[in-house]
Amino acid sequence: MPERAGGGVPPVVLSMGGSVLVTGDEDERFLPDLAALIRKVSSEFPLVITTGGGRVARDYIRLGRALGLTETELDELGIDVSRLNARLLAAVIGPPCPSHPPTSLAEAVREAHRSRIVVLGGTEPGHTTDGVAGLLAERLRAQRLVNATRVPGLFERDPRKDPSAKRIDRLDYAGFRKMIEASVAGTAGQQFVFDRLGLESLARGKIPLRIVQGRDLSNLERALRGEDFAGTEIR
Ligand code: UTP
Repeated sequence: MPERAGGGVPPVVLSMGGSVLVTGDEDERFLPDLAALIRKVSSEFPLVITTGGGRVARDYIRLGRALGLTETELDELGIDVSRLNARLLAAVIGPPCPSHPPTSLAEAVREAHRSRIVVLGGTEPGHTTDGVAGLLAERLRAQRLVNATRVPGLFERDPRKDPSAKRIDRLDYAGFRKMIEASVAGTAGQQFVFDRLGLESLARGKIPLRIVQGRDLSNLERALRGEDFAGTEIR
């Protein structure tokens, strides 16, 4: 059953890609600015934030695969890195964000009823943190899910491989499902702008998804608030 946080204003879920959260480039400046933005908007609506594992998770998964680890063991490495990022972001945000990030969906839902800001990493093997964000958005009947990622939206083709690819500004879930199906292999460390599990949760819950470049904080703020923004909206 979907649940509504605190019976009040529905939350906004933010899926913060590991590759924008900790990049190795000016993180000391970016993280406090992101934390300030999160504290600011949390006075208007509760926020539930998932953090990805990014490059470090992918490096561990690549190494683990070369060493012959199972898919579950590889996923567990990715989960641990995403939790490390959650702990870092929670500490930079400070109170009222709990300093021990939840480790399961049930715990995250409970925490979302108690606190205006919740940060967590992955929960169980076989997902990504986007999937966790989608499941939570459905359970909490979120207003929207904002996916803060490396690229400034969803493109018709991978813009890193084809710089002439155009951004898709608006799309429905049926069209998005087709794009995911055409591009995802479903193994640990997979990379697409959003994952299949997250998409199905959002489509079921009729929750809009906004995809933005996560380092542009003024645009991220507009996307979180439901204002006009640069990026892709899927509904
Ligand atoms: P991420 O969610 O960080 O995947 O999890 P990602 O697509 O690399 O995201 P970015 O780049 O940070 O935005 C990293 C890996 O950890 C495992 C999966 O193997 C995933 O690919 N994982 C993560 C899980 O198995 N379960 C989870 O709940 C989260």
